Amino acid sequence: MCGIFAYLGPRQASTVLINGLRRLEYRGYDSTGIAVKDGTIQLHKKVGKVGDLETILPTQVPGHIGIAHTRWATHGIVNDSNAHPHQSVNGKVVIVHNGIIENTRQLRTSLTVQGVELQSDTDSEALAHIIERELSVDNNPEKAVRRTLHLARGTWGLCVLFLEHDVIVCARNGSPLIIGQGDDEMFVSSDPHALAPYTHRVVFLEDGEIATLTSTSMKLSTLKGKDFNPSITVLEEDWGESELGEYPHFMLKEIYEQPDALRHCISGRLDRVQGNGRLGGLELEPRDLGKVPHVRLLGCGTAYNAAEIGQIMIEKLARIPAVAHISSEFRHNDPVINPNALHFAVTQSGETADTLSAVKEIHLKGGSVFGVVNVVGSSIARECGKGVYIHSGPEQAVASTKAFSNMVAALSVFALQIGRSRSTSKERGKQLINGLQEIPHLIEEYLENQGPILEAVEMIKDAKCVLFLGRGISAPVAKEGALKLMEIAYIPCLAYPAGEMKHGPIALLEEGSPVIFIAPNDHVKMKTISAIHECKARGARVILIHEKGDDIANEADISIPIPPVHSLLSPLLTVIPMQLIAYHTALALGCNVDRPRNLAKSVTVE
Ligand code: AGP
Repeated sequence: MCGIFAYLGPRQASTVLINGLRRLEYRGYDSTGIAVKDGTIQLHKKVGKVGDLETILPTQVPGHIGIAHTRWATHGIVNDSNAHPHQSVNGKVVIVHNGIIENTRQLRTSLTVQGVELQSDTDSEALAHIIERELSVDNNPEKAVRRTLHLARGTWGLCVLFLEHDVIVCARNGSPLIIGQGDDEMFVSSDPHALAPYTHRVVFLEDGEIATLTSTSMKLSTLKGKDFNPSITVLEEDWGESELGEYPHFMLKEIYEQPDALRHCISGRLDRVQGNGRLGGLELEPRDLGKVPHVRLLGCGTAYNAAEIGQIMIEKLARIPAVAHISSEFRHNDPVINPNALHFAVTQSGETADTLSAVKEIHLKGGSVFGVVNVVGSSIARECGKGVYIHSGPEQAVASTKAFSNMVAALSVFALQIGRSRSTSKERGKQLINGLQEIPHLIEEYLENQGPILEAVEMIKDAKCVLFLGRGISAPVAKEGALKLMEIAYIPCLAYPAGEMKHGPIALLEEGSPVIFIAPNDHVKMKTISAIHECKARGARVILIHEKGDDIANEADISIPIPPVHSLLSPLLTVIPMQLIAYHTALALGCNVDRPRNLAKSVTVE
């Protein structure tokens, strides 16, 4: 989704900005642009990738101050004029903006009445014109931005460049913005990952804050005009190597990184002697966990699917009610919040606006929320204050793979921890720990012998629709499989709990319809077999993911065996063939595996 990068300092700004944009690319975008000041302001923007922008840049873009943007369209179609930066009518102000200005119609109308000719269909452009107008009042950049933002309603991460001032003013309200402090240079980014090559000393702007930056100074104030001192955070976790290496795509690389990512996630978090989980970041004692009335988990997309698996594990091990909620629905249903309940916000990016809003809703109503987050220092991690980092490392492909596995693993450790404080025996806890510690190796074993994935791809690649079915803990895995295939191969997919199939989706089945079943060797397997028979009786062809050595393989048209696994942890194995099926199907159809159309890695608008 939209990304911002800005620079002030001794280096050539255009080079730093282009590098910054490259590190934001993984978030997904449709157009890009930069503005650099050197006496005049040079502005270049274009639909397409950062590489496309580079082709239109002159060989020299002199200047040491600049702002840059990757746009993911919200207001206005994808075209060059809607791309950022946007310039004010007299060229004195240039802005890049993430977020949505809700009263844009009103602001645009009042500008038109004043004779301003708007150049784009965006909500953002209006801000540039109003800042320029306000600048004419007292020629004070910070005050001009502040007065403008008092007129705006909505969300913003905003960077403003001025023709007549050597400063960048930035502001945040609901859309992340991080200032990176170097030696006599200053950076701004909407994503801490993009700052990592330059500095680890950062200031996270909070909602309602404004920063006025030169290359050597940082002045922070609130929207109300109160100055305050910056609080510098040193980012310890470096995302490390995020190059493709020997892999053709990030998605494949990330699928193969799952065993090691899981090792990182569970390392130091399992107490083998007590058969217990140990998530120190939650700061919860057994006596606290013993009193919890219920657990709620929040997430979107893949994170929601992981949350549903967490829900099942928590109920099974702790015998208390747990429920997963889709974040985007949560606050709109005016939920009742019990301050004694535990809430978890599950998110890879830590920036998903829907999940952040749900967290704020719980806080507003007196509850507390723990983050289950990948990106260290992200907005949700900071809003929650406490929680669990899932330690997947950088996930660059839009389709989430290793973050899903680590969310499930982190939630399983929590389920164990709360289970042990209530109803799970030490013996059962030890079995789960053994199972969890075996998983990385079992995934490696499976990846070495993946089964007939390409045959499955042949069966589904031209299908009108693919049905994914699983029961119990495999029902959310079916959803995750369907989401993956739909996201990157654009094939319509339906996922259902297998028992629900006969209540509706069965109507879709005709001769040759492909159905993917997930049926590990657990207590609902026999029920799943009934659903397989019902499908086959209607001519459907069955791709079956099952445990090696299980007779259920005879039910399949294409059988994909995984190594036998602890029944509560089966999602960590059964999901892998589905990730591979989605990946290879997308390849077979010539789709852009890592950057699927219309999608963004980090969805920062509601
Ligand atoms: C996953 O493959 C998707 N790209 C998407 O559903 C994603 O999981 C969702 O947008 C939530 O993102 P988050 O984990 O960063 O909050």
